[in-house]
Amino acid sequence: MSVTVHDLRAWKAAGRRFPMLTAYDFPTAHILDEAGIPVLLVGDTLGQTILGYETTLPVTMEEMLHHTRAVVRGATDALVVGDMPFLSFQVSVEEGVRNAGRFLKEGGARAVKIEGPQLELVHRLVELGIPVMAHVGLTPQSVHGLGGYRVQGRGEAGARVIDEALALEKAGAFAIVLEAMPAELGAEITRSLQIPTIGIGAGPGCDAQVLVLHDVLGMSEKPPKLARAYADLRGEIDRAVRAFADDVVAGRFPDDEHSYT
Ligand code: KIV
Repeated sequence: MSVTVHDLRAWKAAGRRFPMLTAYDFPTAHILDEAGIPVLLVGDTLGQTILGYETTLPVTMEEMLHHTRAVVRGATDALVVGDMPFLSFQVSVEEGVRNAGRFLKEGGARAVKIEGPQLELVHRLVELGIPVMAHVGLTPQSVHGLGGYRVQGRGEAGARVIDEALALEKAGAFAIVLEAMPAELGAEITRSLQIPTIGIGAGPGCDAQVLVLHDVLGMSEKPPKLARAYADLRGEIDRAVRAFADDVVAGRFPDDEHSYT
């Protein structure tokens, strides 16, 4: 059964925690979907994980749509959320509406995620039937304004993050990502909202947790403190390609089993 934005809200009401993962391509989306991951985020982190950019800032709408289509083809049940890239929504509400619509119309996503307290845009999109996942705390598209990837909302600054989260819920967001903030703040926001909070470095008190897939799989060169690796795919890939190369050089591959008569 396809997961809907209403399911997520019902899960929060029932106290059911859930995972979200990023996905960027067809085969991994298929594996994650079959494993029962209910929400797949085509994150603009693909700028770093897939395309080799330093930050998410250079990521374009065309790149996001290309990967969103691949993920959508691989996901049968999961709710696929497209992440709106830098400058696809900040210039005007009109441009934000057009680009959010492209995620649904051309990408096949069923919701979009937007960084920061873009209240007018969120309200307009929800009015138009485009579900919005909000994102507060550390918003990586503002990395230069924030002076780096720093924990947000410490001390008195926490009140501002709570206000933003409440305002985004009021504007109609169906869920909200809380990134890199003290665990107490993550828990307080979670208690204050009716919509589910999806934490990434926001402590165990959130309703859901999200991680970047490459961090989970042990593919990242420098994983952040907030991530846990559940595999060492970087090591596995290195081992496999070296073994293949050794076999080719030594004449062990191909053998009879892998040759046609
Ligand atoms: O772009 C992304 O992958 C994200 C998640 C880390 C929440 O925004």
